[in-house]
Amino acid sequence: MNDTAMRLQVRDLTKAFGDGDSAVHVLNGASLAAAAGESIAIMGPSGSGKSTLLHCVGTLEPPTAGSVRIDGSDPFALQEAAIARFRNESIGFVFQDHHLLPQYTVLENTLLPTVAFAGPTDGETRARTLLDRVGLGHRLLHRPSELSGGERQRVAIARALINAPGLLLCDEPTGNLDGETADAVADLLLELHAEAQNVLLVVTHDPRLAARFARRVDLESGRCVER
Ligand SMILES: Nc1ncnc2c1ncn2[C@@H]1O[C@H](COP(=O)(O)OP(=O)(O)O)[C@@H](O)[C@H]1O
Ligand SMILES: [Mg+2]
Repeated sequence: MNDTAMRLQVRDLTKAFGDGDSAVHVLNGASLAAAAGESIAIMGPSGSGKSTLLHCVGTLEPPTAGSVRIDGSDPFALQEAAIARFRNESIGFVFQDHHLLPQYTVLENTLLPTVAFAGPTDGETRARTLLDRVGLGHRLLHRPSELSGGERQRVAIARALINAPGLLLCDEPTGNLDGETADAVADLLLELHAEAQNVLLVVTHDPRLAARFARRVDLESGRCVER
């Protein structure tokens, strides 16, 4: 496949924290490309730079060098406000901790990414549909404290997908869940990914979960190694 067909193109990414003798070099020329519809498990020991890679790809952290292209554009070439908008519209995030806001309902939490910028006009309809899809259509007005861990992660998934991002980044999304709940959340992620045909990158420690993705990439010495 040629480069222009790639939704995600990461080239020679380096990332160091700090500088001089005390610098920590985390990424050392990481490259990765993915077409729409591809899912990739990212593995590697703790501290190997998996979260750092996701943060750079997700425009949350600027890389020290190298490039990230999403649908052909370089988000880091944009001004700060434009990067935030690009991130909001093009990238969904699911973290190990759900990061739901406790004072808001399930429905309001799901709608949060549509608030900062004029999102889809049918935001609420889409939120209701997504929440139905993740099995929480009957919990719209509940607050996160009234949900189980698995249910909170389902809301986090609905929120990540509300703007129909082309890229969905998940950092150990099932890391805090028991085995059965983790399986159900993984089923849901994969189903919604197949429907949306987004690029799905999932950091996981669980080889059983990793085996369910189309591709697997290991972070080794700050580079991506395809398995
Ligand atoms: N903001 C930061 N400042 C300094 N060092 C950091 C920062 N973020 C991550 N690191 C270091 O980068 C390395 C990789 O971290 P991380 O990407 O979180 O690894 P992983 O997700 O694979 O466990 C670790 O040594 C970590 O201490
Ligand atoms: Mg991590």
